[in-house]
This record gives sequence, C-alpha cells and structure tokens, in this order.
Amino acid sequence: MSISPLLSGNVARNCHPVGCQAYVQQQVDYINSLPKLQTIKNVLIIGGSSGFGLASRVALTQSCHSNSLSVSMERGPSEKGMGSAGWYNNVFAKQQAEALGLRSDNIIADAFSLETMQSTVDYFKANYAGKIDLVIYSLASGKRIDGEQTWFSCLKTAEQTMHGYSLNLETDSLTPDQVGPASQDELEATAKVMGGEPWLQWIEVLANADLLNSGCKTLAFSYIGPELTAPIYRDGSIGFAKQNLHLHAGLINTKFRDLSIQAMPCVAKALVTKASVFIPVMSPYIAALYDVMKHKELHEETIQQAYRLLSEHLFPKSGEAQLDDEGCLRIDDWELREDVQAQVNKQLDGLSPENFKQRLDYQGYKQSFLQLNGFGFEHIDYSSELDSQWLAQLRP
Ligand code: NAD
Ligand code: NA
Repeated sequence: MSISPLLSGNVARNCHPVGCQAYVQQQVDYINSLPKLQTIKNVLIIGGSSGFGLASRVALTQSCHSNSLSVSMERGPSEKGMGSAGWYNNVFAKQQAEALGLRSDNIIADAFSLETMQSTVDYFKANYAGKIDLVIYSLASGKRIDGEQTWFSCLKTAEQTMHGYSLNLETDSLTPDQVGPASQDELEATAKVMGGEPWLQWIEVLANADLLNSGCKTLAFSYIGPELTAPIYRDGSIGFAKQNLHLHAGLINTKFRDLSIQAMPCVAKALVTKASVFIPVMSPYIAALYDVMKHKELHEETIQQAYRLLSEHLFPKSGEAQLDDEGCLRIDDWELREDVQAQVNKQLDGLSPENFKQRLDYQGYKQSFLQLNGFGFEHIDYSSELDSQWLAQLRP
C-alpha cells in the first residue's frame, strides 16, 4: 500500500508514517545543529504530540537532556486507516529520546479529565526518578468534557461580522469568507475549552501529589497578534479564552507561591499547525507573514520557536526567565516587528483570488501543512509500498 495526501477543506484525512518520522527527524537535526542548553531533568508536556508541544519536547530532549512524559489524544492505525500524524510523532519522539538513554513516554488519554491527571501522576511516580521541573500546557481542542458537561470552543468575532478571505488547501484557492459574532454563551464555552482552568487543575493535581520541584516552571502557549487580525483573534472568542488563560497564570503563581512555582503564558508566533488552519480569515495573514519573514530571514517554524524559547527566554544565560510587563514570554517579538507588520499589510492590501499566489507564500504555507502530516518531503518516494512489518512494530 502507498499513501498520498487526502484533504477535505483544511483537514488532512490521512498521514504518512515514514514522512512523520522525517518530520520528527528534521526537528531533531535542527536542534542538534545548535549549542546544547542546561539540563532540565523531568518535563511533563500536555499536548506533546504535535505543533508547539511536540517541538518543545524535541528541543528539551535533544538540547536539555530531559526525560519527557507527554499526554495527548491521537489515533493509532486500525482497519479505518493509518491513524493520526500525532500518533506517529509520539512513536518517533520516544524513539529519539530512548536512543539518548532518556526516559520518554506517551499517555494517550483525554487531558481534560481528572482521571487522566491522576493516572499521569501514578504513572510518573512508578516510572520516573525525582520530581517535575517543567510543565508545558499546549492543548488545542474543539471540545472539553468534564464529568457530565461538554463545552465546545468556537472561532468567532466578539461583535462585528468580519469579512475577508480564507485559503483552501484542498482546492488551492483563496475564497471570500466571513465570521460572525459569538454569543455570550459561546464566548464562555470557548474559555472553558481553550482557557486556563484545566491548566490550573493539572498543577493542583501534580502539587497535591508532591510531584513538582520547588521552582518548577510551567508555561502555556498563547497568541496575541497584530491589529489586523484582532477582530477574529485577539478580540474574538479565542482571544477571550486566551485572556482567561493569562488570568490563570496569575492564579497559579498566587496559589503555589510557597512552592515557588512560576507560571507564564508563552506568546508564540502565528504559523501553520493542525489547529491554526481552522481559524477563518486568518490564513492569508499567516501566508503573508511566511513570505515576509522568509525574505527577511526571520522565518521560524515550531522547532525554531521552541529553541529560541528555551535558550533566550525561559532559561537564558542570565538565569531569570525573560518576561514582559504582563509576565509573558514573548517569542512573537519578530512577528510583531514594525517593519514585518508594515510589509505584511502592504502585501495583503488589494489581495484577490487572482493575485494571492504572488502576494503570499502559498507554496510554503501548503508545504508546511503537508509536512505536518508526513507529506511533501522531497527525499521520500511516496509511490513506494509501506513496510507492514516495520509499521506493525511501532509503539507510542
Ligand atoms: P496542535 O493541534 O498541533 O496540538 C494540539 C495538541 O493538543 C496535540 O498534541 C493534541 O493531541 C492535543 N490534544 C487536543 N485535545 C486533547 C485532549 N482532549 N486530550 C489530550 N490531548 C489533546 O496545536 P498547536 O497549534 O500546537 O496549539 C497548541 C497551543 O499553541 C494552543 O494553545 C494554541 O492556541 C497555541 N498557539 C498556536 C499558534 C499557531 O499559530 N499555531 C500560535 C501561538 C499559540
Ligand atoms: Na501542541
């Protein structure tokens, strides 16, 4: 059996295991081309199978010699198909860590459930030496189930309908799109899913089990973005949830002062991930940003962001984490540079379905998306048969 990419809209319906291995390997190779960083013994990553969580895990493993326990929700291969890219990312991230003699495990379970939090504690106690030094919270989800209740997050504006365009990866086109306002209930539900309550719950469960080292750091990924995307992001339902996330950093810091826990939102740059391609009217901005930042040699993917986060912002040589006035790590600093934003605005002004391939780095945007699912690697022969014996022995 050979596999080629299947897209419906902006959803990948399949993935390529050999390509997922290449995707993880590419991240490993990048980190190994850079100076090693200080040792961070044990890390817990909630959402470590893809995007920012995976990149952080790879960077920590390769550069900080960290043992890593990751919790994620992914599908393995079955009669129904190959499973999800994140499942393979877990397999290869673990392999890469074990090759260095490190402990690395994947818990596949719902990170919003208290039972998962408790079983993660039990697993850590049974299998790891010492306590946890860093907790990374990197979930992106459309829903959260908590006991009897289920909340759904939405991607809408707060008040006005926003008109714009979205990129369609299936048809390689730019199509008019619009997003309307969220109701108060929708705003609150989005904050329940993408806000900070489960982050705080995780820290409570870990602290109650006495698993956090004094001085343990914890960060949650966030986004703010420029004026241009404010109606759909910063001021919209997802921005409302991010405010809730930032609020919870403060709550964690206050509640666990005695343990010297340091909680920080980490504001990252906009890039293509499984989650971000869903945000309506946002994709032309991201594809323009790719073009501008590549021309200025400032372009970063998740792994470049993860290394810069660790080396310059979270564990800089000077010792203390580098935070802004609001207590956030800011790895969106290059995205928000004035010259970058001015050029992005210029390229988006007058954007149309006819000129978008000249104005945006559509090619690069799509390539990044394909690679998230193990496609689009030049050195892989996608027409060749998958080795079923090799596949059958993969373990997350
Ligand atoms: P992603 O989809 O690549 O990763 C999401 C992770 O969450 C995966 O590991 C997935 O398995 C896990 N997950 C989702 N639901 C789960 C559940 N119920 N139980 C266990 N695991 C679950 O997304 P991403 O883009 O890396 O997003 C991570 C964070 O980074 C989000 O908070 C996002 O807002 C933030 N962020 C993203 C961007 C961007 O441009 N992509 C920019 C800045 C910040
Ligand atoms: Na992630």
